[in-house]
Amino acid sequence: MFAFADVCPHRGMPMRHGLFDGETLQCCYHGWTFGAADGRCTSIPALSAQQPLDPSRFRLRAYPCREVQGNIWVFMSEARDPDPAELPEVPRLQGFDGAAPQVTAVMRFPCNADLATIGFIDPAHPAFIHTSRWWRSKKARLREKEKHFEPVGLGFRVRPHKLNGAGGNPYRLLGRNVEIELRIELPGLRLEQITGDRYSAAVLAASTPIDADTTDVHYCVYWTVPWMAPMKPFARWMTRDFLRQDYEVAVKLREGGAPTVPPLFVGDADAQIMWFFRLAKEWQNSRAEGRPFVNPLREQALRWRS
Ligand SMILES: [Fe+2]
Repeated sequence: MFAFADVCPHRGMPMRHGLFDGETLQCCYHGWTFGAADGRCTSIPALSAQQPLDPSRFRLRAYPCREVQGNIWVFMSEARDPDPAELPEVPRLQGFDGAAPQVTAVMRFPCNADLATIGFIDPAHPAFIHTSRWWRSKKARLREKEKHFEPVGLGFRVRPHKLNGAGGNPYRLLGRNVEIELRIELPGLRLEQITGDRYSAAVLAASTPIDADTTDVHYCVYWTVPWMAPMKPFARWMTRDFLRQDYEVAVKLREGGAPTVPPLFVGDADAQIMWFFRLAKEWQNSRAEGRPFVNPLREQALRWRS
């Protein structure tokens, strides 16, 4: 497996337009070829035999990558050739090693990755945005919530808690005593684990920045319920429907153009968003100062209505 910047170092042609034979990549423009193992140039067809030049001085920019639970994770380091020992751990869903998602959905959002990620962690918007007949109706009353948070890895988690409230919640398919654990981690990840006494499920959401104003949002749904296989098309539709509701928020926010006032973060309901920005700042500071990341958050209970 490999991950290279999609740019030929010769004239900047995106390498995706070239050829890949399983071992070498060839640029479509002038036929430069690069080894897939290290990205080094192995041949420059236009060079005359009278001009000996070592093509291996040219290289595709490589990024560390690895496959975990059916997803390919790429570490988009600013430093060339980062020390593998310094790479952050790829977060894992418990109980799904060797598994791949049952359902995935990807949608291209017209916003930066931070804004897309806020969509995962903002507890106050679902009551107004994620209203569907199959999930919760617009008439559902807001309820008081109190949840306990603690720092973990590159983020924070809600301590595992029992599912309560509406009987129609699809998580009830997992059995009795359903417990939920939620983790938010840099750079833009939300991992939700739902465990019942019979089965378990998990949802991984990730923001992948494409450029400054474009983000691919991925949803990957895992479950261990054997009889759910025929319901995959419905689960896929549900996942896309959920994602589409957040996508429409991003489209409407963009309609407003660049905000003329800074966003307000009010009360515990917005605390997790502030934490996310604090974590991101600490990550940047730790890189700039060449020191390990120190999680700036403390254990804390938050209260809100949703
Ligand atoms: Fe949302």
